[in-house]
Amino acid sequence: MKISSVKAVFFSPTGNTEKVVSCIAGQIAKQLGVPMETFDYTLPKNRQGKKSYGQMDLVVFGTPVYAGRIPNKMLPYVQNNFEGNGALALPIAAFGNRSFDNALIELRNELEQNGFHTIAGAGVVTSHVFSDKIAPNRPDEKDLTELRGFADAVAAKVRGLESIPAPIDVRGDDPIGPYYTPLGMDGKPAKFLKAKPKTDMDKCKGCKLCAQVCPMGSISEAAPQVVTGICIKCQACIKKCPTSAKYFDDAALLSHVAMLEKNYIRRTESEFFV
Ligand SMILES: Cc1cc2nc3c(=O)[nH]c(=O)nc-3n(C[C@H](O)[C@H](O)[C@H](O)COP(=O)(O)O)c2cc1C
Ligand code: SF4
Ligand code: SF4
Repeated sequence: MKISSVKAVFFSPTGNTEKVVSCIAGQIAKQLGVPMETFDYTLPKNRQGKKSYGQMDLVVFGTPVYAGRIPNKMLPYVQNNFEGNGALALPIAAFGNRSFDNALIELRNELEQNGFHTIAGAGVVTSHVFSDKIAPNRPDEKDLTELRGFADAVAAKVRGLESIPAPIDVRGDDPIGPYYTPLGMDGKPAKFLKAKPKTDMDKCKGCKLCAQVCPMGSISEAAPQVVTGICIKCQACIKKCPTSAKYFDDAALLSHVAMLEKNYIRRTESEFFV
């Protein structure tokens, strides 16, 4: 099958999903000798209008895994703003070393629903944004080699395709199960839905970067210590603040992080479906 362009598409508040999708899309483009374009839908200003693709496109579509699924605040955008028009697609779920649960199959289903033909997919291990102790520095060199190997296999599959295959078979429940319930150290559900980051005003130098990187547009530029809207706990403001002025002190969230550090620091491998 002939492809004229590879598109790297992702939501990536702290950069892991971007790294994974760019690696895979770049390698496929290289193998097929076609250009690669990027569409980053992390910031609200980029989530305007619809994105349309066509039969000559291969779209590498990445999402981070939140509570075992596509981040719920991004789901309506993913459902309503992408038109495949017969484009080939790869669902990619970047997860933080616990599990991708049903995020990959959910993304596959949404892409198929929107007129894409999914021909491969992957659940890829990345560092967990909640803790520097969970899968630090992943994807590492071994992961990147695996990602390029996966991309090579996808490029070979594209070259050999004579007709549109059935949707790629990936791991997960279909119909999709509920969101993963985060647990605390006591084994009970940790309820931190309403938690918002705090700001150490002795450290804050008023640069407004946190407001500019918040994917929900929820931090006030005029007063960066004020969170005006929904917080999805993505950690973008915390990781990108140049003076480390931002932090979470919500007890339930911290207990969940401690639970993850206790149970999910073992090395987990990515899963590829071609
Ligand atoms: C609210 C939230 C929920 C998360 N839930 C999961 C999860 O269920 N399983 C998992 O392995 N990682 C989970 N993670 C970790 C992220 O999937 C992982 O760190 C990812 O690389 C973040 O992507 P980004 O760097 O592109 O923002 C969660 C992260 C956040 C912020
Ligand atoms: S990024 Fe950090 S230093 Fe800059 S305004 Fe936000 S909290 Fe203050
Ligand atoms: S305020 Fe919440 S949603 Fe916005 S960047 Fe910070 S952690 Fe992410």
